[in-house]
This record gives sequence, structure tokens and C-alpha cells, in this order.
Amino acid sequence: MNLFNKNLLYPLLLTTLLPVTGRAQQHISVQSHIGQKSVKPISKDLFGVFFEDLSYSADGGLYAELIQNRSFEYSPGDNKKWNPLSFWDYTTEGHGYGKITVESAQPIASVNPHYIVLDIDDPGTEGVGITNSGFDGIALHSGENYDFSVYIKLITGSRVPVKVELRGKNGISYGQFSFKTAGKIWTKYTGSIKALADADSAKLTVLALAKSKIAIDEVSLFPRNTFRGEKNGLRADLAQAIADLKPKFMRFPGGCLVHGDGLDNMYRWKNTIGPVELRSQQRNIWHYHQSYGLGFFEYFRFCEDIGAKPLPVVAAAVSCQNSGGVGGTGQKALPPADMKSYIQDVLDLIEYANGPVTSKYGAKRAAAGHPKPFNLQYIGIGNEDKQTADFRDRFKIIYDVVRAKYPAIIIVGTVGPFPSGEDYDLGWKFADKLNVPVVDEHFYQKPAWFLNNNNRYDGFRRPKSKVYIGEYASWGNNLINALSEAAFMTGLERNGDIVKMASYAPLLANLSHVSWNPDLIYFNNKTLFRTANYFVQQMFSANQGDIYLSDVIKFRLPAAQTDSTLAASCVKDSGTGDIILKIVNAGGKEANTTIDLAGLKIQQRNATLELLKGAPSDKNSISGPDVVRSVKKDIGSSELENYVAPPFSLSVIRLKTEKTTGHD
Ligand code: AHR
Repeated sequence: MNLFNKNLLYPLLLTTLLPVTGRAQQHISVQSHIGQKSVKPISKDLFGVFFEDLSYSADGGLYAELIQNRSFEYSPGDNKKWNPLSFWDYTTEGHGYGKITVESAQPIASVNPHYIVLDIDDPGTEGVGITNSGFDGIALHSGENYDFSVYIKLITGSRVPVKVELRGKNGISYGQFSFKTAGKIWTKYTGSIKALADADSAKLTVLALAKSKIAIDEVSLFPRNTFRGEKNGLRADLAQAIADLKPKFMRFPGGCLVHGDGLDNMYRWKNTIGPVELRSQQRNIWHYHQSYGLGFFEYFRFCEDIGAKPLPVVAAAVSCQNSGGVGGTGQKALPPADMKSYIQDVLDLIEYANGPVTSKYGAKRAAAGHPKPFNLQYIGIGNEDKQTADFRDRFKIIYDVVRAKYPAIIIVGTVGPFPSGEDYDLGWKFADKLNVPVVDEHFYQKPAWFLNNNNRYDGFRRPKSKVYIGEYASWGNNLINALSEAAFMTGLERNGDIVKMASYAPLLANLSHVSWNPDLIYFNNKTLFRTANYFVQQMFSANQGDIYLSDVIKFRLPAAQTDSTLAASCVKDSGTGDIILKIVNAGGKEANTTIDLAGLKIQQRNATLELLKGAPSDKNSISGPDVVRSVKKDIGSSELENYVAPPFSLSVIRLKTEKTTGHD
């Protein structure tokens, strides 16, 4: 049979789902047909990414700042071993002497209280100053520019010469520049250094070269080459790796980070906008520090840059049920008296994203350099929260107010941390009662769970709420883990009418500070590697469709035999007209298929096969090259017709078609 026979044209009768709005929609079951095949529309936002600042994903990761503890705000609250001078050394190499103190009497801003004072009696031959070791050293690329800035206030002395230098281990200099201080008030100084050579682990030294007393704060060094060259920007390679996933949405800033380790640790988005030196910093629930340099403006900007819809998540006014660990406080709720201002914060967030420049928070967005709205469509309320009366009361209050003021915003609720159990059941009951448009389910499970749950949503009661699988991963980064996720994802496409969104979690991990395994992308200061799981996510995400076509791919198995290691799906992308087949073989034998495209209104241009395969235990590592990576080639119709899926593989076949008209 010619798979691309132009005569096999059948009408595609396709009704559409009502768009989801802030009001929950009655699910409409759509079963239309192309020829013999049933067809249904699926979510246009199915595959996205989940970003949480854990494992140094933000500071020391995606946020390109190279100075650690730049504003001297580290404290034992972040980590018992830390203080405002952590990751800084007092530097007196040329026999200079004086003293260094941490002070807080006259800071740049009360939200950024600590700074250091150098009281220099004698600058010696080399000056007296401070040296920062970055996040496990500062990686430099030869010939690239690094932009430095610092706030200085001169307490005694005048026009003090200051030298800024990037240094290596044996006194080697990677570049320097100098300036003279000018004023007795906090003043920002800037300059740049072109790196003279590559370095894995440089340090930044700032030295004052005259007898004086000077206050220093907010010492910063950014590569000029950030993602898209943006100021206060993102590390280019990491941001690009995320962009390459072509995510339809990005959830941020977490995870447990959102509801926080106790009420005082709840993530407050307002602390994360405006000039960085005016952002109020916070300990991170994952036992380090959040500078909030990567804040809500930067998240929204990144989403826009990569074409992902933003999905910010706010706490449901309760803290994480695991707050304080074993024997800790557990879930705590904001007192009723604080709810009004908390809810206002949530409304202000929507105004910050979408409001006109004449609105209070729209004006703040414009002041940050983005007068145009960010087109926020989704907001999450709560994360994995224990379904207590406190949670329910507060969720409902926030939910009702947001719906009333912003009916077009799609609210995402939460049904606990597990795929079943008490919180899951209570959470769904509650979501049903309130008609919550979308709820967030989480699964961290073994590969077998993902294989055996391929049909999880097939028989799912078609509820009023749609599903967002906000966090899922099988426990590992071997190819078999990735393939089990791929098999599961075919089930998400098949049920893309009720599964609205899904995101693997977590996204990033700095190899020197891994708080959670597995992750999608691992990195050190110089480079990164993409896991097998990444390639699966990319192959699905870059090949999304908006129409599901059933019964196109069949595995040739003996009658009545089923095999959970085999899974497949077929979608159409009506934007391009392409038909996309995904075939997962998570077993050790070749799998014979029959691909029946009869009835699809396509005219062939060409077909490509993207193949990910290997041994089940194959995995990538930072030492590279990638053992597991997908490879693309053209594929002819004879190979396609009876496609043989190799053992342990994911095949994505994209049939490029001439766009035809009148069929959808
Ligand atoms: O992804 C890591 C953590 O797992 C998230 O913070 C939390 O939501 C989940 O339990």
C-alpha cells in the first residue's frame, strides 16, 4: 500500500472543545473521524517544563551571576556554616594591613542590610580588599567579556584607587581594570574585563589601594554573553538547553520552594522584582540562599524569550506540611488577618504580568523594561498541600477572589504529592466541588509504574477539571527510565483532551550541589549534559500535535497478547499539517508494527525518523560524549509501512505534508 496515496482522502469532521476559561468547563467528549480513525483535539499546551530553585538551579545555575554571596546576606539561617563573609576572603597580599568588618548601620536599603567596611591603615604594595571564590570557582572563557559592578561608599579618604582583578591559582591574572572612588554616598561603579585565557576556577579580587575606610556592597560579575545578551540575565548554555525543549509552558518558581519551610519562608514574588539590590533575600527550603536575582521579571522574560506560557505558582497561604522536618511545625496557615494582603499580592501578580502601564504593577513591569504585558494565562495556587481544613479555607478564598477579578485566568489547583491516597482523593473531591479548571498531579515512581500506568487516563472519569501532571519522573537517568516516561507520555497524548499539561521534574541540577535526583539537565560551571530523559522530553515536546488520531499504529503481537513495554501514539499538528508518530519499545526485542495511514488527508513531501536507542542502562555523563542521544534521518515509505522499532528505543516519525485545505 502506498502510505501517501493521494486518493485516500476522507473528510475530517472535527468539532472543538470549548476553550477552558477561569470557570470550569463541562467536558465534552469529542469523537470525530478521519476515515476509519477516531480523532480528538488535544491540549495545545501539553508538554512544558518545571523550574524549581533546588540543586543550585537559580543562584549558581541558570542565573548567570558569578559572585556568590554578592551582597553579604548569607547567614546561618541559610546554612549553619554560613555568615555574611562566606565565600569571601580578606586579602592583604602586599603586606598591607587594616581590618574588615560586617556592618549594617547605613545599608543601601534596609532589605539588603549587610555590607562590609574595609578600614585600611596601610595598603602595602598590593592593596587591601576582598576575594570571592564564586560558586565553586569562576569559570572564564578566553576572549569573552565579564561585566563587573559594585556599590562603594567612602567613609574616610578621597578618590581611592580600586583595582578589580580575575585571578587564578598561581597568581596568574586573567584580566583587570581600575577606577577611583568618587563619593561619600553609596555609588555604583561598573567596568569590564576581557578574559585573557580559559579558566575553570578563577576568583575575583577587589582591592583598595590607599589608606581609607570604605564600605562595599553588591559586588557583581556577569558574563556579557548571557542568554540573548540580556542584563541581569541567564547562563546562555543552560537557557538554550531549556529553549531547545521547545516547551509550551514553564512552571516556576517550584515546587516545595513555593509554599516554603514555615510561613516566614513562603515565596513572596514581590520580594523578587525591581533593582536587584532592593530585593529582599531569603533562605532556600533546600538549605542554601536565594538572592532573588532571578526573580519574577526574569522568569516572565525568559518565558517570553522561549515562547513558553508562564505558569507562576503561589502558595495557598499555607506552608509545606513537612516544614521543619521530622518533629517540625508541619503545615501552618496564614492567620485570617493576613489573608487580605496575601490575596492582594496574588491579584497584584496578575496585574504585574498583564496590567496596563497605567496600573500600579503594570507600571513596575514597564519600569523594568517591559511595557508590553506578558500575557499570563495560568496561575497555580498551592503545591502538593496536605488537604486540611486550613488549606481548603484559604485556597477557596484566594480562588474565589481571583476568579471574580480575572475570570479568564486559568487556575491550577493541587491534589497532594502522590498518584493516589488520602490527599489525592480529598483533593479531587474538593476540585470537583469548586470546579477548579485544572489540577496538578505528581508522580515520582519506578519505571515499571510508568509502563503499567500508560492507560491511567484512558478510563479516567471525564471530570470537570482537567489534569496538569506538574511533576513526574521515573527514578533514574538510564535509557530505560527515559523510555518508561516516553511510554507514559504516549498515554498523555492519547488523553490530551483531559491532560492539559505535563512537565518532567526537576529540570536542572548543579553537580556539586544535587539536592534531588534524577534531574533533566546536569551542569557544572563550564558545561552541561542532557540526560536520556531530556531527549525523550525534547522528542515529544518538539513534536506536539493538537489532534490525536487513534488506531494508526498497531504492534503485531500474537492475538490477545499485550505488552506493557510497547506504546505508541499518533498526532497531527494542524499548524504545519504534519502527522507525527511516536513508537516506544522499552523491551529487549524488536517490535514489528503496522502503520495504517489510510484515511489521513496527507500528501507526502517527506518523512523523517528521529531515533533514540541503546542499552537499558545507558546514561550520559558530564565527561561526555553523550552515550544516549537522538539521531535524525529521512525514512522511506517502505521502511515506514511495516516499521520495526529497535529494542529499547523511542522512534518519532514526522510525516511532512503539503498543507491541504478544508479538512480541519
Ligand atoms: O521536584 C522536587 C520536589 O518534589 C518539589 O519541590 C515538590 O513539589 C515535590 O515533592
